[in-house]
Amino acid sequence: MNGSKGKFITLEGGEGCGKSTQAKLLTAYLQKQGIKTILTKEPGGTPEGMLLRQMLVTGDKDKFDAIAECLLYYADRRVHLQKLVWPALAQNQWVISDRFADSTEAYQYYGYDKRVDFATLQGLYKMVAGDFKPDLTLILDMPPEVGMRRSLLKAEQMAVKELRFESRQIEFHNNLRRGFLEIAKREPERCVVLNADTTVEELHRQIVQVIEEKFNING
Ligand code: TMP
Repeated sequence: MNGSKGKFITLEGGEGCGKSTQAKLLTAYLQKQGIKTILTKEPGGTPEGMLLRQMLVTGDKDKFDAIAECLLYYADRRVHLQKLVWPALAQNQWVISDRFADSTEAYQYYGYDKRVDFATLQGLYKMVAGDFKPDLTLILDMPPEVGMRRSLLKAEQMAVKELRFESRQIEFHNNLRRGFLEIAKREPERCVVLNADTTVEELHRQIVQVIEEKFNING
């Protein structure tokens, strides 16, 4: 598999769905297959992006409205693509990203009950990423109550302060879930929805199966 063309794989989902753990496991699996793979995330995949992340995920939940958030996430995305994702793909590396543009659509468009104009959102995508798209997007789906419980527990255990989104009402999280499922329905070629309300091992097994089938890897 070494030397194959680079692939861009994104993991998406609501709070506490286990994306970060699965992104790490997937990266380790691909590296074990001899595929040069880097793991990154949005927001904050670059040093500049980390500054934006700080602004975005901490503090009062109402400090930015949906439009301001879109612009900040897209600023992070532009730097991420230019400085990290595109150069890595150009060197035939695989890139696993813990969140990408579907998160903006789910959080800032569906989550806020469509307070951003959809055409504007698409325009921002085009300006920042052009025709570039992930080769595969894994959407980790679970009931929001389960995810919220998981992420608040984790935040408590790790004394994490990135709680701007976790502190929103359940309705927001239901909207998010609906948003991710709508995206998957609209782009079935790119997106695969997986039930994340299961064990870490079982979800990893399902992800590996999808990857092996889609990219013809013999694990
Ligand atoms: P994380 O906790 O998965 O690293 O993501 C940080 C937070 O940022 C999470 O609550 C989701 C949110 N987010 C958006 O609202 N829009 C976006 O475009 C991205 C990438 C993340």
